[in-house]
Amino acid sequence: MRVLVTGGAGFLGSHLCESLLVDFHEVCAIDDMFRGRKRNLESCKSSAAEIGVPFHLVMKDGALAESYETALKRLNGSVDVVYHLAAINGTRWFNERPDLVARVNLSTLQMALDFAVTNGARFVFTSSPEAFGDQQNMPITSNSDSQFASSSVHQRHSYGASKYLGELLIQHAVKTHSLDARIVRPFNSYGPRLPGDSHGQAVSMMLERCLAEEPIQIHGTGEQTRCFTWVEDMIRGIRSAGELDQGIDGSNLIGRAFNLGSTEEISIRELAEICREVTGTEISPIEVEGYAGDSERRVPDCTDAKEALGWEATLPLLDGIQRTWAWMKAKNEA
Ligand SMILES: NC(=O)c1ccc[n+]([C@@H]2O[C@H](COP(=O)([O-])OP(=O)(O)OC[C@H]3O[C@@H](n4cnc5c(N)ncnc54)[C@H](O)[C@@H]3O)[C@@H](O)[C@H]2O)c1
Repeated sequence: MRVLVTGGAGFLGSHLCESLLVDFHEVCAIDDMFRGRKRNLESCKSSAAEIGVPFHLVMKDGALAESYETALKRLNGSVDVVYHLAAINGTRWFNERPDLVARVNLSTLQMALDFAVTNGARFVFTSSPEAFGDQQNMPITSNSDSQFASSSVHQRHSYGASKYLGELLIQHAVKTHSLDARIVRPFNSYGPRLPGDSHGQAVSMMLERCLAEEPIQIHGTGEQTRCFTWVEDMIRGIRSAGELDQGIDGSNLIGRAFNLGSTEEISIRELAEICREVTGTEISPIEVEGYAGDSERRVPDCTDAKEALGWEATLPLLDGIQRTWAWMKAKNEA
């Protein structure tokens, strides 16, 4: 298959490219390097050279038509699947730059959608559980309602609302252009290459603090819960959504949305304890101001993913944290 991955130099994108290449698919990544890194693609380049399958990187804005024209040329004029991952991700951005988040997330999606429609490609959109906003009823099912707080209170939902609108645009393209599109909603994926800087995400931020021998920062009370999902499990789910012609239960996958997440619910405080245990850190965590609109619980119901994609998360959190820590230490020593 010939595959386009937008946001391909990011955390999930780089793992997706790597996994596709290993299975001999020709891959082109588009990334403007807002948060992507060339070093994330080092293993893609080496495995492409090793197995003799081309891998292309277009370092351009995914909101511009010319980026897709370049990508199509690299793929010799045809593309089977577009995985659209390009977006501004990272909680701090949602609050600090809601203007950027809304603009980039919607403009890149619209351009990628047009490209898939024009070229008759299948489309996979990485939405987010944040698309449900303040929904309190857990677990979140594939078709739960979205609820958003007033925009005058905080702008955190710039991200979640952009994903909600993204899903809406996908449904429109399915209905009006017969696009074969599928939506996936990753629940807090983690693993090697997840950013742990000041605009990063929980697991890596905590492990980075342990590496630096500084106290782990807990945002808010730490009682909020999440279901952290190992990156290889996540990529398996995203790929199933892109590769199956129909569900393993015979169901139609077009226009369907799948929650992809572990069902191991833990609090942020418990996560900090696991990170301390794995890294042997004795320094106690400290509490810092939480983020406005942070949901108290986020738990997926993955029944649809299990029945139609044959997918469920398998790696226990402790094992995943150990693997991520081993990777981080090796990177630090290199
Ligand atoms: N990681 C998760 O747990 C998670 C959870 C829910 C949804 N998602 C979604 O999955 C996708 C990938 O997430 P991630 O964790 O890998 O984030 P990431 O920030 O590592 O990857 C996103 C990539 O998009 C790129 N990008 C941003 N603006 C761009 C533009 N204008 N043109 C081209 N590229 C651009 C960034 O440089 C980055 O490499 C995102 O759409 C995100 O919203 C991720």
